[in-house]
Amino acid sequence: MGRNGDGLVRVGILGCGNVGTALVGLLDANADLIKRRSGVRIEVVRVAVQNLAKERAITFSPGVLTNDGEAVVADPAVDVIVEMIGGVEPARSLITSALKAGKPVVTANKELIANFGAELFEVAATAGVDLLFEASVAGGIPLIRPLRESLVGERIRRVTGIVNGTTNYVLTRMTEERCSFAEAVAEAQDLGYAEPDPTADIDGFDAASKAAIIASIAFGARVVAGDVSREGIRDVTADDIGAAEELGYVVKLLAVTEESAGAVSARVHPAMVPVGHPLASVRGSYNAVFIEGEAVGQLMLLGRGAGGGPTSSALLGDLIDAAKNLHSGARGATIGVLERRTIRPIDETTSQFYVSLDAADRPGVLAAISGVFGQHRVSIQSMQQKGQGDDARLIFVTHLAREADMAATIREVRNLDVVERVSSVMRVVGGEE
Ligand SMILES: NC(=O)c1ccc[n+]([C@@H]2O[C@H](COP(=O)([O-])OP(=O)(O)OC[C@H]3O[C@@H](n4cnc5c(N)ncnc54)[C@H](OP(=O)(O)O)[C@@H]3O)[C@@H](O)[C@H]2O)c1
Repeated sequence: MGRNGDGLVRVGILGCGNVGTALVGLLDANADLIKRRSGVRIEVVRVAVQNLAKERAITFSPGVLTNDGEAVVADPAVDVIVEMIGGVEPARSLITSALKAGKPVVTANKELIANFGAELFEVAATAGVDLLFEASVAGGIPLIRPLRESLVGERIRRVTGIVNGTTNYVLTRMTEERCSFAEAVAEAQDLGYAEPDPTADIDGFDAASKAAIIASIAFGARVVAGDVSREGIRDVTADDIGAAEELGYVVKLLAVTEESAGAVSARVHPAMVPVGHPLASVRGSYNAVFIEGEAVGQLMLLGRGAGGGPTSSALLGDLIDAAKNLHSGARGATIGVLERRTIRPIDETTSQFYVSLDAADRPGVLAAISGVFGQHRVSIQSMQQKGQGDDARLIFVTHLAREADMAATIREVRNLDVVERVSSVMRVVGGEE
């Protein structure tokens, strides 16, 4: 057994790409520090990859590298598994096999945890072994452990996150350099922040997976990626960014998860955030998570949400935890069964809204438009007119309103003959409670 007197814990790695390579480097560079601080000595004994012929930055000893993930999981010389393949299969099967064999698992796989977390947590609880996934949300930012440990007794009301660095980079460039959306995406690709196919980031899929994981852990509820209402940043225009600035807001792609009246909601969408809100100052590819709890009040965690260094740092913390538990015969607090809770549809959630529309500039128009808002119980906080005559644009910011009421308002306003077009509707988050 690896769990011997000198604290040796032997690791099997599944997937050694960007993140895996960084983790192996960190384990090597910090070996003495890890031993000193935690009492465990972590040795990588098997590594599974897809393509054995690929050139790698790391040279492994003979017999370490394989393309057979199951062989790594089944190897009696492996005590702990770290999964960094990504995607659902074969990661799901390999992790399930490892847990059933009593081997703790550490993973960075947001897609898997967001869709099959509940199933895997139950397998881990039944087997009595750790399944740790700090790296799956917001890269290097410690979030899962603070939620599960420091805040375990806290009644959390809402968690609002900037959890996708690519979109935050794009929106920051559009705000600060007045780039177009296309220019900002091209720049993010050049810098390696965005994939050649940026769909998962730009259209909010990546953030939705993270929102599902955050909601599951913050509220102990079974929330999967498909429960998350999702809207990306493709339709955010330079006009929206400029209007936000004039009104004292910054546009951000937010993951908002809330619990109220026994129901949980999770959504991803662009939103205007007041400049004084802590999330407004999160620039470039940084991530941040803003937590609101009854006793703790507001707190924010900020850092790098992706990249080999930050992600491997989160994996290493989990790996040391799993290794210490294994070595001492203890076991971490498993999540076990997530409750099935009502998922509140987005129509029943509330936000403030920014609405911009082009309308005829003549007496009675404002009354007609604000009358429609009123009929649908949407109360107007402020109104501005920009331009005159044919160029008149009306900009409204509402008080908190139900999504369904706002949608009905917009449908009806669009049909007024005095309204030429509704040019933009965006939620405002972080203003009114
Ligand atoms: N990159 C980030 O900044 C970041 C941040 C947070 C979380 N994550 C998560 O971390 C995980 C890994 O990301 P990454 O960027 O390191 O990905 P990556 O560079 O594409 O690496 C994937 C690795 O998995 C290996 N692999 C693929 N299919 C396999 C199979 N069937 N059996 C065994 N190995 C297989 C690949 O082998 P080859 O080397 O032979 O191709 C490669 O080594 C993903 O879940 C990702 O979502 C990444």
